[in-house]
Amino acid sequence: MNPRHLLAIESSCDETSAAVVRDDLTILSNIVLSQDEIHAPFGGVVPELASRQHLKSISPVVRESLTISGLPLEAMDYFAVTQGPGLIGSLLVGLSFAKGLAYYFQKPVLGLDHVQAHIESAFIERPDLPFPVLALIVSGGHTSLFVLKKQLRFHVIGRTRDDAAGEALDKIAKFLDLGYPGGPVIQKLAEKGDPERFPFVLPRMRDKSLDFSFSGLKTSAIRIVRENMITKDAASLPDFLASFENAVVRALLENMIRAAEQVDPKSIVLCGGVARNKRLRAAFEKTAVERGFQFAIPSPKLCTDNAAMIGALAWTKIKSSKKPLPPGFDLDAYPRSLK
Ligand code: KG4
Ligand code: ZN
Repeated sequence: MNPRHLLAIESSCDETSAAVVRDDLTILSNIVLSQDEIHAPFGGVVPELASRQHLKSISPVVRESLTISGLPLEAMDYFAVTQGPGLIGSLLVGLSFAKGLAYYFQKPVLGLDHVQAHIESAFIERPDLPFPVLALIVSGGHTSLFVLKKQLRFHVIGRTRDDAAGEALDKIAKFLDLGYPGGPVIQKLAEKGDPERFPFVLPRMRDKSLDFSFSGLKTSAIRIVRENMITKDAASLPDFLASFENAVVRALLENMIRAAEQVDPKSIVLCGGVARNKRLRAAFEKTAVERGFQFAIPSPKLCTDNAAMIGALAWTKIKSSKKPLPPGFDLDAYPRSLK
C-alpha cells in the first residue's frame, strides 16, 4: 500500500504550527512559529493578540510546512487539528482553517485533544514503550498525571488544583522582571546557582490525592524574594532561581513517584513544554533508572506545542478505528480539559 499523509495544525495557545506526517509517524515537516515576542511585554499570553496573530500566520505556516514536506495539499489523505483545550479564539483559527481545507478537498478532518497529543508525542520516538504507561505532562497550561493501560486509553489520575508548573515559573520570572516565557529564562539564569541555598517546603495534599498545587510554592518564592531583597541584578538571583526550579522539579517528581507506587507502570513518560527543562529531564531520568522503569522524554522540539504531535495522535486514532471516519466538517472547539 502507498504511504498515506496528513496535514496537522495546532493553534491552541501562542504557537502557530503545521506538520505533514506520514502514516508510519515519519515527520516530513513540523513548522512552529512562536508568538513569544508579541506577548513578552505583557509577561504572559494575551488571548486577543494570540488569535489575531494566528490569523496572520496560519496560511504562511501551512504553506511552509507543505513546501518542506515536498507534497501538495492534494496529496493529503486526512486533516488533523487541535480541538481543545486552549484559548477559544486561538483554537477557532486552526479549526476553521483545517475544516475549510477538508471541505474543499472532501477529506476527513479529525479533532484532537492537545493534552493527549503531548503524551502521544512520546511514542513518535519510542513506539515500543510498554503499557501501562504513567505520563507526567507539564506545561504552561497543564500539570497532570495520566495512566494509559493501552494505546489511546487516557485516564487522568491527578491534576493541578491551581497554577500549572510552567505558569508558576512564568509568574515568578514576571515578578522579577526577567522576561517571557519564564521557564527557559529561569533555566539559563539558574545554571550556576546553588539549588540548596533557599529551602522550600513542598506542597502536600491533605486528602492523599495525586493532585498538584503550585500556588503555595509561588507564594513562598515571593516571600523569599521580599525577605532577602532579591532583585534581577542581585548576586543571590542564580541561587534563588536554582532553588525555586529545584523545588518545582521535586514537587513534580514526588507526586509522580507516589503515583507510580499506586499504578505500577511498565514505563513512564515526561512531556509538555516544561519537559524541555534540563534539571527536570535529568531528575526524571535518574528516578526512572533508579526504580527500573523504561522511560521516554521527547526531544525538546516535540515537547513545546507543535503540530507533529497532533498528527501522531491522529494516525494512532485512524489506525485503531474499525469504522470509516466521519467527515468532521461540524467539529467545534472546546476550551476546557476533557474529564
Ligand atoms: O507545552 P507548552 O509549549 O504550551 C502549553 O501548552 O502551555 O508549554 C509552555 C511552557 C511555558 O510555561 C514555558 O515557560 C515552559 O513551558 N518552558 C520551560 C522551558 N521551556 C519552556 N520551562 C522550564 N524550562 C524550560 N527550558
Ligand atoms: Zn501544550
